Amino acid sequence: MLTRRRFVQSILAFAILPKQLLQAKGFLSPNAFQVPPLELGRRSGKDVYFDLDIQSGVSQILPNVSTKTWGINQPFLGVTLRANKGDSIHVNVTNNLHKTTTLHWHGIKLPAKADGGPHQPIKPAQKWLSEFDIIQPAASLWYHSHQMHKTGEQVYQGLAGMFIIDDDISKNLSLPSEYGVDDFPVIIQDKDFNQDGSFKYFSDFRDKLMGKKGETILVNGVISPVLKARKSMIRLRILNGSNARIYHLNFDDKRMFHIIASDGGLLEKPVMAHSIKLAPAERAEILVDISDGKMPILRHKMHMQKSANRMSGMMMMQSIQGKKQEFDIFQIDARSVSTSDKKIPDNLVKHDNPSVRSISKKRVFKLQMQMGPQLMFGAMSGSTDLLKINGKSMNINRIDEVVKAGSVELWEIENTSMMPHPFHIHNVQFKIVTRQSKIKGHELGFKDVVLVRPHETVQVLIKFPQFSDAKTPYMYHCHILEHEDHGMMGQFVVV
Ligand code: C2O
Ligand code: CU
Ligand code: CU
Repeated sequence: MLTRRRFVQSILAFAILPKQLLQAKGFLSPNAFQVPPLELGRRSGKDVYFDLDIQSGVSQILPNVSTKTWGINQPFLGVTLRANKGDSIHVNVTNNLHKTTTLHWHGIKLPAKADGGPHQPIKPAQKWLSEFDIIQPAASLWYHSHQMHKTGEQVYQGLAGMFIIDDDISKNLSLPSEYGVDDFPVIIQDKDFNQDGSFKYFSDFRDKLMGKKGETILVNGVISPVLKARKSMIRLRILNGSNARIYHLNFDDKRMFHIIASDGGLLEKPVMAHSIKLAPAERAEILVDISDGKMPILRHKMHMQKSANRMSGMMMMQSIQGKKQEFDIFQIDARSVSTSDKKIPDNLVKHDNPSVRSISKKRVFKLQMQMGPQLMFGAMSGSTDLLKINGKSMNINRIDEVVKAGSVELWEIENTSMMPHPFHIHNVQFKIVTRQSKIKGHELGFKDVVLVRPHETVQVLIKFPQFSDAKTPYMYHCHILEHEDHGMMGQFVVV
């Protein structure tokens, strides 16, 4: 029989050994960083035509077993779409799944009919044509399924990809911009797997309430990849494509980096940071100087001090349950750097901020979660109205707000619950004007998602584009996809 001491030792040895072995090699894993294929579409002048095929497939994510996945023009996740400001986009989407789905252009200003939300379902074997002009500046946006009550599950299966917009300003700044060479999409997602390799979506009702969090981190569909980069300054376009997990990203060697863009595009000036917090659906572009030829690991880790102070009850529960709170995400191998002298510009762009004086309306949105026995019972019975905004759960036949096209509004989002909610608004890029904590880093830029902390109130200033359509609504919702699917969503029309 094992003595207690031997038992503890053997557990420790087991836990420590693999990591030591890997560190001796200097690699997290033998997995290569995957860059999603770039899709520029067929171009004729300003018209750009994309053909997208939503499909199911099989992917080798785990070493010994394959995983059934969904993707767009590939078996898992979407190809990266790229176009310019001023282009007219025509996307022809074909649904080759056996389930109804949609494709939503997250962060893009466009007519409601082209938005790809729950009002534009694509049935199996059917096509959907989405057409819009790109009227917004360079940015890293994304696209994903937005099927009513099924968004969480479908994004988890792989229906998500990046959409990059370029413009003259972004092209003329001397920023790293060679796709897959010194400019990389980094889609971070967390998954759980069943024994047979398939993705394990709902495990219990807690996932519905807290959002589905997985224990394995994927970057562009790969576990712990190593990125062999050649240039001395690289640009990472990071997308938190997870259903519910919030990441505190920083490098293991504590190196600083420059945040250059938020959800809606370039910041006015680069911001130096050693860590960045990204909630689901948030993006940030960062520049990392790897000219020292080292091998930094990007990881999800809270600072000691912060984690001690801010450890929420929920997190405590999770760590008691043995759930991991910290992960290595991917490693950069910069041993073969070629020197290039990309200087970081002092100034990036000038923002055309909506003025506070032009606010024509203020609206209040209270994010609410039912608590107590009602909540437990409802969650277990699969009820879809546990989560509310202003006392109402999402109803696809109800318009909640009517906004005037071209107007400037102040939206106040109040989180009345005990957990953070990343609030997202379709068709706009807003500025955060007030929040309890300091507005810093990527939050200084244009945003389409804002993380509203427990019991916090955040105000955002929005200028609505000119598109109007009295019948077809846009969505606003919590981007914890299980919250969106279970009622924390509303609809607005712009007229
Ligand atoms: Cu990223 Cu309504 O969605
Ligand atoms: Cu969206
Ligand atoms: Cu939420």
